[in-house]
Amino acid sequence: MLTNHISFQDYYNNTVNFSTANHPFSGDPKHVWVVARYKGSWLLTIHPSRGLEFPGGKVEPGEDAETAAKREVFEETGGVVEDLYYIGQYKVLGKSETVIKNVYFASVKELISKKNYFETKGPKLLKQIPGNVRHNHQYSFIMKDDVLELSLGEVNNRFLHE
Ligand code: GTP
Repeated sequence: MLTNHISFQDYYNNTVNFSTANHPFSGDPKHVWVVARYKGSWLLTIHPSRGLEFPGGKVEPGEDAETAAKREVFEETGGVVEDLYYIGQYKVLGKSETVIKNVYFASVKELISKKNYFETKGPKLLKQIPGNVRHNHQYSFIMKDDVLELSLGEVNNRFLHE
């Protein structure tokens, strides 16, 4: 058992395992999630059905996870990633499938205005992530479990010194 390994239930009552160890669940995860920051604000995307969430998605065939992370940030927000850091990995034991995601922190150097944000409604900059996200219908279910707090805690400790 890893000391930095935490288990909890998500919004849909699926079990989630989160760890800041080096790729503990898969060396080749198929999903990425990116806690992004631009000019002192958090950079989220507005998903048309799920709501506000940090950008992310699936790793495409032939792509590595870091490339997917940068691509998803740009596709969903127009953000150009300057630096990307691995934060941890989580595994969701879903009803029909298991999803393994890498979590990254990205510093974004430029926000390009685009006509097309793929499946999203584009960027949303927030000075602060509110404390009541779990009970706020504007936010996506992927922001409504301990992954958010654990990831923000890591980012604050390692990069923002807050
Ligand atoms: P699309 O092909 O993108 O429509 O994917 P999908 O709806 O099949 O979803 P995906 O393969 O991304 O995830 C499958 C299931 O895993 C979802 O329905 C969720 O229950 C769960 N899941 C995916 N990502 C997350 C996440 O970041 N957090 C949590 N808690 N669950 C997730």
